[in-house]
Amino acid sequence: MPNRFIVGNWKMHNTISQAETLIQEILGIYQANPSVELAVAPPHVALQAVARLLAPTPITLAAQNVCAKDEGAFTGEISPPMLKELGCQYVIIGHSERRHLFGESDEAINEKIHAALRHELQPIFCIGERLEEREAGQTHSVIQRQLQKGLVGLEPKDLGNVTIAYEPVWAIGTGRAATVEQATEVHAAIRSSLTTHWNLNSEQIRILYGGSVTADNAHALFQSPHINGALVGKACLNSESFVKIAEIAALD
Ligand code: PGA
Repeated sequence: MPNRFIVGNWKMHNTISQAETLIQEILGIYQANPSVELAVAPPHVALQAVARLLAPTPITLAAQNVCAKDEGAFTGEISPPMLKELGCQYVIIGHSERRHLFGESDEAINEKIHAALRHELQPIFCIGERLEEREAGQTHSVIQRQLQKGLVGLEPKDLGNVTIAYEPVWAIGTGRAATVEQATEVHAAIRSSLTTHWNLNSEQIRILYGGSVTADNAHALFQSPHINGALVGKACLNSESFVKIAEIAALD
């Protein structure tokens, strides 16, 4: 099994100086453990400052979004080479807020995944159903569609560099996390689909759960062998709760 992976998605929180303070707080209490990789995804403008503070540490850096183009007339966009030069190892792609608030399609997300991989940025590829889709019994068809369309054109070797994050939209920012049974069921389906369609050993692929993960529910979630870590939103904005989740991931 791969080591566990805990990623803090800061979303649009923290100015540069606030970002520096939060990282200093995390570094003050975090004891690295080889069984867990910890990453933070600050807003683009804080990446450089955070990269400088993380350079001597094992904590890795992720961006929250990326443009599918390498350069050109794309006002307001940030390219993969720009993120790479800033020291990002990962980039979150297809987060539900990008899909639903900013209209990103499965096809656009697929283009971004290819662009990231071309520049040796490892995508953290998010998928997840909305509440009405779950209630209509469409969870699996939505997940399969997002997975198939998002990963079109990738070779099995590319998939080794992709982390998948299952984030049910109804669980994000609601305080209502999926149960370990609900998450496990979808994670298992994702794994079996990866094995069937890409003919690879899906045990090697990290599948994270995201959606209202806290220090209180992390232990239960990590009991599932299918859950390889967490994409954490609100709880990563507090150094203590973020580090606690990483510690729980190491202990279990
Ligand atoms: P949340 O966000 O932990 O605040 O629910 C998770 C995410 O959006 O990645």
